Amino acid sequence: MKLNIAVLAGDGIGPEIMQQGVAVVKAVAERFAHDVSFTPALCGAAAIDRVGTPFPEETFTTCMNADAVLFAAVGDPKFDNDPTARVRPEQGLLAMRKRLGLFANIRPVQTFTGLIHKSPLKDEIVSGADFVCIRELTGGMYFGEKYQDDDKAYDTNYYTREEVERILRVAYDYAMKRRRHLTVVDKANVLASSRLWRQVAKEMEGLYPEVKTDYMFVDNASMRMLVEPTFFDVMVTENTFGDILTDEGSCISGSMGLLPSASTGIHTPVFEPVHGSWPQAAGKDIANPVAQILSAAMMMEHFGLAAEGALIRRAVDAALDAHVRTPDIQVEGGQHYGTREVGAWIAGYIATH
Ligand code: IPM
Ligand code: MN
Repeated sequence: MKLNIAVLAGDGIGPEIMQQGVAVVKAVAERFAHDVSFTPALCGAAAIDRVGTPFPEETFTTCMNADAVLFAAVGDPKFDNDPTARVRPEQGLLAMRKRLGLFANIRPVQTFTGLIHKSPLKDEIVSGADFVCIRELTGGMYFGEKYQDDDKAYDTNYYTREEVERILRVAYDYAMKRRRHLTVVDKANVLASSRLWRQVAKEMEGLYPEVKTDYMFVDNASMRMLVEPTFFDVMVTENTFGDILTDEGSCISGSMGLLPSASTGIHTPVFEPVHGSWPQAAGKDIANPVAQILSAAMMMEHFGLAAEGALIRRAVDAALDAHVRTPDIQVEGGQHYGTREVGAWIAGYIATH
């Protein structure tokens, strides 16, 4: 297969983990004789510094012309600590999502054997947890009308029926491919937007009789994720709830550095880690490249390259088993491998298996 991949490394640890993600894609391409090319493009604080905007037009064009975008992370503390900053790196990520029409964010939450001890939750609770959060990504409070002055401020949680229907279709398709259990997470006891979600979901339920659909308020869901994460198979929720619940989900896996995601919709799909740019670790060769590498596996799988995706996953599992791990997930007393060493080990495994 011929693939042209836009590479948006962004800020902080982004460039370091991206280097490993790209090395892994190259190793897989070599192994399966695919013709993969990479086109780097600016985004985030790196783009603001160079051209004054976090998602330059040229980057948009590169993304539109690519088959997929491999994205690392954006964010820089120099903007976080300046409430008057008019442009922020995160706006670049939001602009990319909106302009590429990436309304469906797929965030799998899994445990890894041998890493269960890293979860702050008890082994017997997280063991076997394996679910996917489908987060709506281009609507809700993130993009609804906003207002702010010195005395008041608001963000509007705006959703249309069409937006709800299309994300529910994605969620039902996932449920059909998995254990056929969908949990619609909302706050329909308080929010009008959630009542629309629930109304639309109730209407669609009948179209998927093989799927067991249940409804859960978001406060209850956040609790259930901690006491019985194995309850969930596919959960679907609006943008803000999904943002919050997936950070919570990372505690089930044990480290934010392990969770990949895919964002799909109208134009070029984007594959990116759930974690952020971790500026404090930038340049130190300590960031975990696994989430970026697993994002590359999701990218392969998106193109129907199941064997390629599976090989990446096996290579990651083998690295974890061999204790070739960055400090965030290393066992006590274990050697601390750097970002580069972990990436090279995984790419090496792919080349030889
Ligand atoms: C995420 C991030 C982003 C979000 C930020 C960086 C804008 O937290 O991808 O979850 O809130 O969507
Ligand atoms: Mn988030």
